[in-house]
Amino acid sequence: MDKVIIFDTTLRDGEQTPGATLNVQEKLEIAWQLDRLGVDVIEAGTPVNSAIEMEAVSLIAREVRRPIICGLARALPQDVEAAAKAVEMATHPRIHTFLSSSDIHLMHQLKKDREQVLMMAVEAVKRAKTYVDDVEFSPMDASRSEPAYVYQLIKACIEAGATTVNIPDTVGYSTPEEFGELIRGVFQNVPNIDKAVVSVHCHDDLGLAVANSLAAIRAGARQVECTINGLGERAGNASLEEIVMALRTRQDFFNFITNIDTTQIYQISRLVSELTGIAVQLNKAIVGGNAFRHESGIHQDGIIKERATYEIMNPRDIGVPGTILSLGKLSGRHAFREHLLEMGYTLSDEALSRSFTAFQELATKKKAVDDRDIEALVAEEMRHVSDLYKLDHVQVSSGDPGVPTASVRLTGPQGEPLADAALGNGPVDAVYNAINRAIGQVVDVSNKLVEFSVKSITETTEALGEVTIRIESEGSIYTGRGAHTDIIVASARAYVNALNRLLTAQRSRKDQKEEK
Ligand code: KIV
Ligand code: ZN
Repeated sequence: MDKVIIFDTTLRDGEQTPGATLNVQEKLEIAWQLDRLGVDVIEAGTPVNSAIEMEAVSLIAREVRRPIICGLARALPQDVEAAAKAVEMATHPRIHTFLSSSDIHLMHQLKKDREQVLMMAVEAVKRAKTYVDDVEFSPMDASRSEPAYVYQLIKACIEAGATTVNIPDTVGYSTPEEFGELIRGVFQNVPNIDKAVVSVHCHDDLGLAVANSLAAIRAGARQVECTINGLGERAGNASLEEIVMALRTRQDFFNFITNIDTTQIYQISRLVSELTGIAVQLNKAIVGGNAFRHESGIHQDGIIKERATYEIMNPRDIGVPGTILSLGKLSGRHAFREHLLEMGYTLSDEALSRSFTAFQELATKKKAVDDRDIEALVAEEMRHVSDLYKLDHVQVSSGDPGVPTASVRLTGPQGEPLADAALGNGPVDAVYNAINRAIGQVVDVSNKLVEFSVKSITETTEALGEVTIRIESEGSIYTGRGAHTDIIVASARAYVNALNRLLTAQRSRKDQKEEK
């Protein structure tokens, strides 16, 4: 059976989801989990974008040794050089360079003609080739380009050394029949196509990204670019879990295999959702909360008699956890570590100690701690690893009648203590005002709260509450999450988490300006 190469771009296109910024440590954590999942290629970022992006791609290249590590570059010398520098330590480095091929992009965005674009693309591939053997080229907006020009570009780029040519449906405009036809056209009209792997990269603007990717595979593509939970620019990219499970569940139809260990899918979906703050919709295929829930009596009856009556996949094949964890407040650190390993988490000793302390605290408050609680605790731990500001203490008084009042204490980047108190319209408002005052002594934290949501991790009243917020500053959205049994504390943690992302992004923009 033929193999389909799974190229994951969660850390690059996925991170372009508004509000989904990840810090370096979070990116590394996701890259490790992508490695466990078995993806063939990790597109780790666009190194030229910022110092943080360069650091993240280089770190992943050094640490994650099995998969190909890819850096994205526009077809410009400085981009290619930044990508080459970032992936130089990888066991299997790849540079992915791209340039638009549609007339609409050439005319309005690039203001160049086809000949000039062809020369730039060839130059970029040649330049990339001086650093690495493995070079990918994408004609951006290929599905809206004149096919004959796409063939010409691809042919020239393969001659220049590209080993993978990727056909993007950049704006999610294509349909499965059309896209399959385009891929067949590539095989029929590009004479040197046997020297490269044909890849596809589909966006989901019309909800067709997965269908288009599968049609392309049937037409001969052997690499698909996709993201965990379908994250990505606008409506997102083709979802990795949907493509992989379609190929596996309907192997009778597609007749392809992938390297993916599907039992890792659920865990990485949760991890990406926790770290990006982008919730997975309940009815999302494969990883949504309802994907294996049966509501109607007829369906429940069928499932009890024979699972296959209404389930085409076994939840265990995706790694959906069992609900009740056999750990309680008397469980030791060793059992806790073993259970985390079973769940697919490998934590450093320090992170393990902090998670274990949080687990013990929770176990004294809550009789049955289950895997969903553990996921939330571990995510809470990972979120704060590279925080600039850490929340040490929060105290609130509120009531009716009464004026909500909050006091907070934090530690700054140099370990300096910061404390303040404030009033508010409600307890959360008071806490946010107090945090603004405390951090605002040192740095400008102006922002607007644009979204606030609380959910309970499990069903009981003593459950962990998880707060997700989004704040806006200078046109950018920053997400924050926090979990605690006290939802005011969870809200405070979520806010500090979002501010840390905002302040990290501000710092990186400032560093970049200074470098220039
Ligand atoms: O959507 C797109 O065209 C891209 C390219 C960089 C491959 O993300
Ligand atoms: Zn894209």
